[in-house]
Amino acid sequence: MSSRIIPVPPFDYVVFGATGDLTRRKLIPALYHRFKDGQFDEQSRIIGVSRSKWTDAQLQEAARASIAEFVAPEDQDAAVIDRFVSTFSYVANDVTDEQHWADLDTALRADPRIIRAFYLAVAPDLFGPICQYLNRKGYYRRDARVVIEKPLGHDLDSSIEINDAVAHIFKEDQVYRIDHYLGKETVQNLLALRFANIMFEPIWNSAHIDHVQITVAESVGAGTRGYYDESGALRDMIQNHMLQLLCLVAMEPPASDDANALRDEKLKVLRSLKPITGPEVGRATVRGQYRGVTADATSVKGYQEELPDDKKGSHTETFVALKAEIENWRWSGVPFYLRTGKRMATRVSEIVIQFRNIPHSIFDHAQGAPRPNRLVIRLQPDEGVKLLMMIKDPGPGGMRLREVPLNLSFAEAFSERTPEAYERLLLDVIRGNQTLFMRRDELEAAWAWVDPIREAWDADREAPQPYSAGTWGPTGAIALIERDGRTWHEDRG
Ligand code: BG6
Repeated sequence: MSSRIIPVPPFDYVVFGATGDLTRRKLIPALYHRFKDGQFDEQSRIIGVSRSKWTDAQLQEAARASIAEFVAPEDQDAAVIDRFVSTFSYVANDVTDEQHWADLDTALRADPRIIRAFYLAVAPDLFGPICQYLNRKGYYRRDARVVIEKPLGHDLDSSIEINDAVAHIFKEDQVYRIDHYLGKETVQNLLALRFANIMFEPIWNSAHIDHVQITVAESVGAGTRGYYDESGALRDMIQNHMLQLLCLVAMEPPASDDANALRDEKLKVLRSLKPITGPEVGRATVRGQYRGVTADATSVKGYQEELPDDKKGSHTETFVALKAEIENWRWSGVPFYLRTGKRMATRVSEIVIQFRNIPHSIFDHAQGAPRPNRLVIRLQPDEGVKLLMMIKDPGPGGMRLREVPLNLSFAEAFSERTPEAYERLLLDVIRGNQTLFMRRDELEAAWAWVDPIREAWDADREAPQPYSAGTWGPTGAIALIERDGRTWHEDRG
């Protein structure tokens, strides 16, 4: 079936932080694609708000520049771009300066049929002041939506504070917390794979699955990103993206695709995670930090060398591997190994479901030992699903067993462009569909699980284990899984 474009009702999207990086890199290109596909038209408006004294024309110019930089040349259509940027207007406003709060009255339309969404692409300490501003200026409506994004706190307490500041004005059914991994096509495909096929669900449990691996490896570094040193891989990737992936793999089938039905199931998984606390942290987690590599052809700086002088000596982890356990009937005894890092050997995100071996082999050793089946779900790049199976090696030579992949490559199977996560998410806000957004209780359950790990690391003055840039992380990560008689899946064929 080819893709269907279902237009959304007209909206006013107010973007706070309109001059920032997120707007430039992600929001404008995503909205442009949706506009170009006809999902909305000039009846909708995009209203930028920020402190800088910009004009409408300046924001429109910035939108053009963002499209030129982040949209593929074949998708840049001059006439469409002109129409698209004509929907942009700009209001200069410093929300921390109550005396000089600007009016959105001319930009924001009063018609109750026009959907109102407020995207807070700003630091979380501004969420409270912005919500107060919206309320006191009379821009709040019961059917308005507010969109927020990480960092939603640095631990449970601070995330409660941030959520409280928003909840002071907006009800939970108006709050859209973005985890952009949930907007990725392949991540949504996990739901299709599990719940639109009969064959996996009966064996999706500890009786048939030996363990699960989730890897999100990046080749980029992190030392020049100011925010990263305050965060580290545990807060930046594990607390949100990786735990969300774990939830989608591990959750019970929801009764429907209703947002709360799905989020209830994810929450149950988060609450069933066995706490990793005290001395267990040393056994079940590994943190690393990349070192530079000097070679003739390519030299890569280490994390420490990238940091500004006042941050040198930082113990921030750029790599985490950990063993998570889910204490429920379905997953008892099935470890979930998670690992993520910067400056790894390659950029790859994938989930590997390793099944148990067959209980008894009828083949003798010379014919080759049957290897356990593996389902590899490749999230990016080269999106696809691979099922590794044993077959008879074709031709003469008797019965010889061989492992081959049953390979579904999305690029080969589908000709359409894969939309970026933000395209789906930005318009789900307008559609009022919260399925792919984190509910407050989920976010807090994830922090509650991650906090004791962080605390144990902070209490321990040891530096993270070093690993060379361009590798799969510190040796401790290999030991973590090999102690259990298993290995990381590294067949990239
Ligand atoms: C972000 C993290 O949330 O996700 C970044 O802050 C990370 O550190 C990014 O690089 C990864 O996203 P993607 O879509 O490139 O896999």
